[in-house]
Amino acid sequence: MANAADTYTLKNSNNIEVTFIARGGQITGIKVPNTRGEMADVVIGYETTEKALAGDAYFGALCGRYANRIVNGQFELNGEKIQLDTNNGSNHLHGGNDGFNLRTWDVEEVDLPQFAQAYKLMLVSPDGDQNYPGELTTVVTYGLTEDNELVIEYDAVSTKDTIINLTSHAYFNLAGAGTGTIAEHELTLNADKFTPIDGEIGTVTGEILDVEKSAMDFRSAKKIGEALSADCPQVKLVDGIDHNFVINGFDGMLKLAARLEHEASGRAMEVYTDQPGIQIYTGSHFDGSETGKLGNPIEKWAGLAMETQIFPDSPNKEHFPDATLKAEEHYKHTCVYKFI
Ligand code: BGC
Repeated sequence: MANAADTYTLKNSNNIEVTFIARGGQITGIKVPNTRGEMADVVIGYETTEKALAGDAYFGALCGRYANRIVNGQFELNGEKIQLDTNNGSNHLHGGNDGFNLRTWDVEEVDLPQFAQAYKLMLVSPDGDQNYPGELTTVVTYGLTEDNELVIEYDAVSTKDTIINLTSHAYFNLAGAGTGTIAEHELTLNADKFTPIDGEIGTVTGEILDVEKSAMDFRSAKKIGEALSADCPQVKLVDGIDHNFVINGFDGMLKLAARLEHEASGRAMEVYTDQPGIQIYTGSHFDGSETGKLGNPIEKWAGLAMETQIFPDSPNKEHFPDATLKAEEHYKHTCVYKFI
């Protein structure tokens, strides 16, 4: 059994270093060079593991069993009404009050030829955990390639029919965590459509709208700051972006979902996934009251989360992708964060 604070590091020969802890599989640091070879830690968080354990438990964490929101924590499965616990107003968010981000995962280093270094993280969630049906066994692989890709592979199997939506919740700042906001970062999304929200708590309306002519249009590279200051009701609701985007051409194969670039610091990254959606969250709830890396306050818009996933509230929206996991079948999900 691992201890919450146990710390693991993935390295490759280009000096990239990914650090995570057993609690929540939380990625606490990703050090990458820029075009001039200067290193920076590009995920926001705290300066010590002790602080990470006491602080915002979503930073870099594995979220489940259902990442994102389920309205009123309710859904129906095989004709049975299920009530999950609620931890976000009346909603269920990121697996509830005791989500996978708060669990201590078993961690084991594995030797896989495609990776410079890799670890497997394992968690067994009992039948009825947070009221979810079925005992769910989840195995997540964190692998770092020599092509500077952090690959996150999810595999989960349940003893009963259930629902599932796992994701990783790192917030990126390519200038370096603690150096300012992501307003000057340029974002490109491979998404013609997004799912609007209905209030500041961020639940989806069920509509799927075109991004065209809206602040949500990132089909070509655009400064995030431009969207943050846009006169757009969807942006105003959440003081930024906290929206699920529909990745173009979903067919279950790995696709480019997002590209983030910060020209001044000479760093860029791409996100690939085989999932239908990506939640883009600008970290609007940070208020500077906590001290993060470099000893600086974690301010509003300090980092950008790019959470590959099924859509929010899919179990209650028939026209959204199906989040059902049938008993004994495998849920599979790959997310690649490639540093350029
Ligand atoms: C959600 C935000 C929420 C945050 C919590 C994000 O994935 O979209 O609404 O505040 O997680 O850290």
